Amino acid sequence: MAVIPPTTRVPRSMKLYQRAVQRIPGGTQLVSRRPQRVAYGISPIYAERASGARFWDVDGLEYIDWMSGIGSILLGYADPVVDETVRQQISRGTIYAVNHELEIELADELCQSIPCAEMVRYAKCGGEACAIAVRIARGVTGRDKVLFCGYHGWHDWYVAANLAEEASLDAHLFPAIEPIGVPRALAGTAWPFAYGDVAALGELLDQRRGEVAAVIMEPLRSEMPPVGYLAGIAKLAREHGAVFILDEVSAGLRFGTGGAQQYLGVTPDMAVFAKSLSNGYPMAAVVGTREVMEPAARMFISSTYWSDTIGLQAALTTMREARRRDVASNLWRFGAELKHRLNKIAGEVGLNVHCAGIDVHPHLHFAVTDANLKNLVTTLYIQEMAKRGCHGYASFYLNAAQGAAELERTVDAAREAFTIIRDALATNSVEQKLECPIQHDAFRRLVR
Ligand SMILES: Cc1ncc(COP(=O)(O)O)c(C=O)c1O
Repeated sequence: MAVIPPTTRVPRSMKLYQRAVQRIPGGTQLVSRRPQRVAYGISPIYAERASGARFWDVDGLEYIDWMSGIGSILLGYADPVVDETVRQQISRGTIYAVNHELEIELADELCQSIPCAEMVRYAKCGGEACAIAVRIARGVTGRDKVLFCGYHGWHDWYVAANLAEEASLDAHLFPAIEPIGVPRALAGTAWPFAYGDVAALGELLDQRRGEVAAVIMEPLRSEMPPVGYLAGIAKLAREHGAVFILDEVSAGLRFGTGGAQQYLGVTPDMAVFAKSLSNGYPMAAVVGTREVMEPAARMFISSTYWSDTIGLQAALTTMREARRRDVASNLWRFGAELKHRLNKIAGEVGLNVHCAGIDVHPHLHFAVTDANLKNLVTTLYIQEMAKRGCHGYASFYLNAAQGAAELERTVDAAREAFTIIRDALATNSVEQKLECPIQHDAFRRLVR
C-alpha cells in the first residue's frame, strides 16, 4: 500500500497511485514515471491534459513540463499541425488488412534526411527498435556478442549484461538491476563499454575477436563527445567486422532532422529513432545502409502494429514541421538562453550551482561533494520547483513550445528555489526542508 503523506499537495494523484499499485506491478509502465523519482507527495503523478509546453494534473494544478513527455514531445503537446494530420488519418481508418503508402513516404523522408539511411524498418518503441537493430546485426554478421554504451531498452539482449557481471548496467541505466526472467543462457552475450574511451572498446573487441556482432551506443547525452571519439569507435567497430549502431532514441530530431549523426558528422551503419520522431505518438524507426538492412528481408521481424498509420503520419508531419520551423536551431538558442539566465541568478543568489551541458540538454550541477547531501539538495530543488509549477529533474528536456513565458516563470521559480537551498545549506537544514522522501537515483546516463 502506497503511503499518502498527510501534507500532500497532490491528493488525487496520490489516491490514484494507491489504486495503481494494487493493479499494476510497479505502479507505472515506465520507471521514469515512478513518483519516487521526483518529489513524492509534492510532484504530480497523474496528468489530465496537456497543451504546448504545459500540462495540468488531476488535482487541477498547472505545470511547465521540463521533461517534454520524457523526451517524446518535440514540437509541443497537442501540436495543431501534427494532430490535424492524425485526425484526418483516423477518419480514413488507422490500420488495414493490407499496407499503406505512408510506409514508403516516411521511408523516403527518413532516407533523404538521415545520413546513414538507405533502408528502413518500423516499430513502436525505442527499446523494441533497438532489439530489431541488434537482431539484424546478429543476422548479418552471424555473431552473437554485443558491446553497448548507454541505455537501450528493457529487452533480454540488453538486460542480459547483468547476468555475467551484476553491475554491468549500473553506469548505463541505474544500479542494482537484477536480470530476473532473462535466460541465463544469454550470460556473456552483452558487454558495456565506457563512454569517451576508444582504447577501452579496442580491448573489449580484441578479447572477443571475431565474436562481436554490434557496437551500439548513444552518440551523446548532455555533453559533447570528445573530438574524434565517435569516428574512432566507428573505425574500430568496422575493423572488427561489427555493425556500428547509433541509438538516437533520446538524441534524434533535437539535433536536426538528420539526427545527432549529421550534427556530429559521424555516419553509423544503422541508427534507431523513436520518441521525438513523432511528437508523442508511438513510433520508431530502424534505419541503415542497404548492405546492412537488406538481409533483414530473410529474418523473422514482423508485427501487426508496425504498419499503424497514426505513428507513420505523425512521424512524417513531425519531421516536415521540425524542418519547416527550424526546430533544432531554435531549441539550441533557447537552451543557451536558459543556461545563461539560470547561471546569472545562481550568481545573484550566491548558490554554488552551475547550469552546464550542451545547450539542447542543459542540467544543473550543484557543487556539493557529499553524495547524500547532493541527493537531498536535488530533491529539495525538485520539490521547490514543483511547488512553483515547474515539473522536471535537475535537467531540462527542451521542446519547441517552450518560450519566453516558460523561461521567465522558470527563472523566477529557480531564484526562489536556489535561495531556499542556499539558506538550508548555510544552516545545515536541507533534510528538514524536505516535505518528501529523498528522490531515488535518477537514470545514471552518460553524463549526470
Ligand atoms: C537512448 C534510448 N534508447 C532506448 C530507449 C527506450 O525507448 P522506449 O522507452 O521507447 O522503449 C530510451 C528511452 O529512454 C533511450 O533513451
